[in-house]
Amino acid sequence: MKHFLSDHSGSLREKVVILDFGGQYSMLIARRIRESGVYCELVPYDTSWADIKELNPVGIILSGSPASVYSENAPRCDPALYSGGVPILGICYGMQLLSLELGGEVKRGARPEFGRTSFSIVEREPLFSDDLFLDEKNNCGWMSHQDEVLKPPPDFAILARTENNTMAAIGDHDRKIYGLQFHPEVFHTPGGNNVVKNFLFTVCGCSQTWTPRSFVDDAVEVIRKTLGEKDKVVCALSGGVDSSVVAFLLDKAIGERAVYIFVDHGLLRLGEADQVTKLYREKLKGRFIHINAREQFLGKLEGVVDPEKKRMIIGAEFINVFKEKALSMGDITYLAQGTIYPDVIESGSVNGAAVIKSHHNVGGLPEELGFDLIEPLRELFKDEVRLVGAELGLPDSILKRQPFPGPGLAVRIIGEITEGKLTILKKADAIFREEIINSGLSSDLWQYFAVYTGIDVVGVKGDDRHYGPVIALRAVYSEDAMTADWARLPHDLLEKTSARITGEIVEAARVVYDITSKPPGTIEWE
Ligand code: XMP
Repeated sequence: MKHFLSDHSGSLREKVVILDFGGQYSMLIARRIRESGVYCELVPYDTSWADIKELNPVGIILSGSPASVYSENAPRCDPALYSGGVPILGICYGMQLLSLELGGEVKRGARPEFGRTSFSIVEREPLFSDDLFLDEKNNCGWMSHQDEVLKPPPDFAILARTENNTMAAIGDHDRKIYGLQFHPEVFHTPGGNNVVKNFLFTVCGCSQTWTPRSFVDDAVEVIRKTLGEKDKVVCALSGGVDSSVVAFLLDKAIGERAVYIFVDHGLLRLGEADQVTKLYREKLKGRFIHINAREQFLGKLEGVVDPEKKRMIIGAEFINVFKEKALSMGDITYLAQGTIYPDVIESGSVNGAAVIKSHHNVGGLPEELGFDLIEPLRELFKDEVRLVGAELGLPDSILKRQPFPGPGLAVRIIGEITEGKLTILKKADAIFREEIINSGLSSDLWQYFAVYTGIDVVGVKGDDRHYGPVIALRAVYSEDAMTADWARLPHDLLEKTSARITGEIVEAARVVYDITSKPPGTIEWE
């Protein structure tokens, strides 16, 4: 099975390489660099210098790590990179490691510093050259370290010191090797972005070539080259941002030679299937295939209560429906899917175990179907996917869609799924979404939706006692779904939503609001 683009983009594109020592902020470093208009890739810390050189980097970053340079299996990089002539920036553990390896002294657990720490700048060039560092005494860096550099390596200057007199920044200007004890990539380091940019542009001499337009141009060329003149592609379209961007890219690159299958499992939100179908029928004409498999999915889910079983059944059924259609077309050679960079990183391939998350979009399909796989978004973060989508002309209705789980409303109905419960949930969810959008809050929220809790309670409707379902509302802020904070929505918005749900949906007896963050909760209820 072939994967690209990352196989291909290889040495041509100007890039910075981040050696990932397992620090909690490694992915954030990558995002900050990309936001600056420079392409970068995370690679395992023990990648050999020969392999790093193949990538032709203009700069190298050594990330943080939970380890100590003195722990038994302290992660170390290939020392040849220190004399490779490529500028290096070590962050936290990265700074301690390069200090030790280049002849400096690192003291173990000396004076741990955590959180916001002020530092004074000793030398402003090149990392602190901006005006916001004019007041050399009052600067703040976010720290999280136990060990500290006691003595920098020979030829290194001290560029900044904390109030405890620990080294906050060091550098060897001739070799262009720098170290920061604080984390410039986190939001709590004011001016951190400037420090990163100064490393990229002043030290490494990067140009800002990583733009949505350059990505689209490259991706179109790569798709055309990879597929040659004859290959045909099938793409599973869910209507979500990722698969939609893949579809628009494929359409631009190979037009008639791609077909798109949209499997409607009946677990989408109110009006969603129609919206997706309308958009893609117009855009993709006869190459858009809509399969209405609602009854088939609901039939298989009958009586199923266990959330994991629901997921498995939906995944397996999806494969059945998709496979039958794709194989019936006969001449397909490739399957396109919308795997994005965090999926690649989370699947472990960056840390050496080249596993691709098999269930990402279309669960296990490539192996089963014998198609080669193309994943044009493998290099992109979610926010970059949206920017590329905007570049390709995707409508806002798709670009601004909230993340939506593959198993859809099945994981938002606690207990058995029935047609009746689905109808109630779709209506309640539509009311909540409408109220959030009208309030102007939608762009601040990561996700907002209704849940059918599966609990029936008593209420009063008219003059009668009434038993009916409790509908829960969930709205969260998040950066990446790994953690989430429940949204402090205005009370009048909640009141109006509650009144509409109990007023417009006869069955609904009560509305509650979920005030659990993640952790300890999860975003979804199942
Ligand atoms: P949790 O509930 O784990 O969700 O906090 C984190 C993010 O993942 C989405 N999610 C899923 N997406 N298949 C998916 O494609 C799933 O089974 C699934 N479960 C949760 C969820 O909506 C949130 O954005």
